[in-house]
Amino acid sequence: MKTKKIGIMTTGGDCSGLNTVIQRAMDGCALRKWNLIGILDGTDGLYSSPAKTIELNYKDFQFANSHLAGSILSNGHSCATNFESSAKVGKLSVFNNRLKKSLHDLDLDALILVGGNGSLSLAHTYREIYSGLSLVCIPKTIDMDIPKTEKTIGFDTAVQQLVSYCDQLLLTARSHHRWFIVQTMGRDCGQLALHAGVAIASDAILIPEIKFNVDNLVKHIKASKRDYGIMLVSEGITIRGHSGKPADMISRKLTAANIPNRTAFPEHIQRAGDTVASDRILAAGFVDCALSAIENNETFVMTSLENGEYKTVALDEFFASGKFQKDPNIPGAITSNAYVEPDNILLKIATDMGIYIGETKK
Ligand code: F6P
Repeated sequence: MKTKKIGIMTTGGDCSGLNTVIQRAMDGCALRKWNLIGILDGTDGLYSSPAKTIELNYKDFQFANSHLAGSILSNGHSCATNFESSAKVGKLSVFNNRLKKSLHDLDLDALILVGGNGSLSLAHTYREIYSGLSLVCIPKTIDMDIPKTEKTIGFDTAVQQLVSYCDQLLLTARSHHRWFIVQTMGRDCGQLALHAGVAIASDAILIPEIKFNVDNLVKHIKASKRDYGIMLVSEGITIRGHSGKPADMISRKLTAANIPNRTAFPEHIQRAGDTVASDRILAAGFVDCALSAIENNETFVMTSLENGEYKTVALDEFFASGKFQKDPNIPGAITSNAYVEPDNILLKIATDMGIYIGETKK
C-alpha cells in the first residue's frame, strides 16, 4: 500500500487539548507508516507561498508536553490574511484559490482540520478548496456549540478551569461576605456557564438561551442562606436598555439592591490549563476515528461522539443540523451553531439544586 501523506492544522480560537490531538495523530500515523506534516498558523500558513509547514517528529515535539494548552502548530495571527480580511477587501476567491493551490502543491492525501463551528461551516461552504484530498475535521471549542457531536475538544478542560477559578474566588467571597459575578466565555452559547455552574453549585447561571428577570435574581440571592457566593454570567447575555459587559450590568443591579458584589473575568484562562483526562480520551477517540475515516477514503466528514460512540458525520449533516447565523464578517457565509436546548438535563438538575437559571417553567 502506498504511504499516505497527511496534513494537520489547528484553526480558529485555541483551547486545551489541541496538542493531545496532534500527538495522538503522530502516533497513529507512525503506526501506519504514514507521513504527517503540520501546517503552521492555520489558514494563514496555507495562504503563505510556499505554505508554512513542519515535519512533526518526536525529537521536536516532546511527548511529555502533549498535555499543555495552546497548539504547537499555532492557530494564526489575528491580523493575518484570512477568510474575513479577504472578504472585507473583496478578495475571498483569491484567498480560497491560494489555499487550494497550497494544498495541491503539498500533495496531501488527507487533511485533518481541527476547528470550531466557524471553520467547519467555512469548509462546508467553500469545499472546492479541499477538492482532491480527503478532508476530515475534528471539532474543538470551549463553547461546545458544534452541531452533531456531544463533546468538543477543549470543553471539559475549560469547565475545569472555571471550576478551579471559582473555587478560589469563593474563599475570598466568604471572607468579605460578598458575591462574585463571574463572566464566562462561550459566545452566544451557554454550555460553558451551565456546566461550570452546576459543577460548583453556583447560586445563579445566566445564559443567552434563557430569559431571566433581574428582580427575581435579586429575590433569589436575598433568600439565600449564605451571604456570599458565585453567579455565573455567560458573555452572550443581554439586558434590554443596557450596553457593556454583562457581568458589569448585573453587578450594578445587585449593588442597587444592596447586595455587596464584585465582578471577575477569567477570560482566556478558560482556553488554557493542562488538558483534563476526558479531553485526552476524546482526543484519542477522535483521532482514531479520523485516521480510520482516511483509511476508508471518506471526505468532507467530521468526527463525532454520540451516545458513547465515536463516528464520522458528513459535513453536510453537521451543517444542516444546526441553527443558522449569518457570518458578520463574510457576506453570504453562514455558520451552523448548536445551543443549550430546553430539554438539556443540566437545566433540570440546576433547577432542582436551587440554582437560579432564569424564567424556566418547572
Ligand atoms: O470561540 C472561542 C472563544 O474563546 C469565545 O468563547 C470567545 O468569545 C472568543 O473565542 C474570544 O476570542 P478572542 O480570542 O478573539 O478574544
